Amino acid sequence: MAPWPRRPRLVAGNWKMNRTAEEAVALARQIVEAVRGAPPCEVVLCPPYTALESVRAVVRGTPLRLGGQNLHPEPRGPHTGEISGPMLVALGCQFAIVGHSERRRDMHEDDALVARKLRAALRHGLAPIVCVGETVEEREQGHTPEVLARQVAAAYTGLASEDALATVLAYEPVWAIGTGRVATPEQAEEAHRLVRDTLDRAVGAGVGARATVLYGGSVTAENAASLFAKDEVDGALVGGASLEAEGFVRIAAAAGR
Ligand code: PGA
Repeated sequence: MAPWPRRPRLVAGNWKMNRTAEEAVALARQIVEAVRGAPPCEVVLCPPYTALESVRAVVRGTPLRLGGQNLHPEPRGPHTGEISGPMLVALGCQFAIVGHSERRRDMHEDDALVARKLRAALRHGLAPIVCVGETVEEREQGHTPEVLARQVAAAYTGLASEDALATVLAYEPVWAIGTGRVATPEQAEEAHRLVRDTLDRAVGAGVGARATVLYGGSVTAENAASLFAKDEVDGALVGGASLEAEGFVRIAAAAGR
């Protein structure tokens, strides 16, 4: 598979626990059709596991890429209900979302587990999309900088810079996910700077400036352009708005540069 360029504009659709395989095929076909073979930026679809194989058949031969929504740190073994890096790779995935706040909340994933998953993804040749972000309480109490620094440092400390640059980060304030309450471009910009500064400290000087950092949380076709107008914002991780082809492709078009 062709390597993807450094710091590309990237828009990933996280379909979460939505769409049966049949419904996913219909959505993927609409997206392929709307993009018409020439996506304006890197576009990654992350359907549920049960739809990966059928969506793969739809995106084969197009520039659209496929990602898993999670992976287990181990390659195989007695882990009922889990999915491994090699399984995702075998289904044509090039990406895997790691540390999404819904999994941190629902499955009690902590920083240490997220760090293991990040490394597992890299080991298997997947680009992890590593999610970090503060809760509303943390923001209101002024703890956003330390929360982001803690999450990024825990995930990245000890990585070689080339490994860190093979990942994608996503700043996803928990209070913005699925709420319709999008961060302002200035809030995103400030948080992305914090993320990049922490990467410099955790991995090495200059890594932050070269890392791809997405914003996620209530991104829509209407607000995407104002977020992408900030140099710090390299694209978006999109939930709800990725379930509707036309709006999702408009977000990708806004990210193109
Ligand atoms: P949302 O989800 O776009 O529906 O807010 C974003 C995400 O969870 O990645």
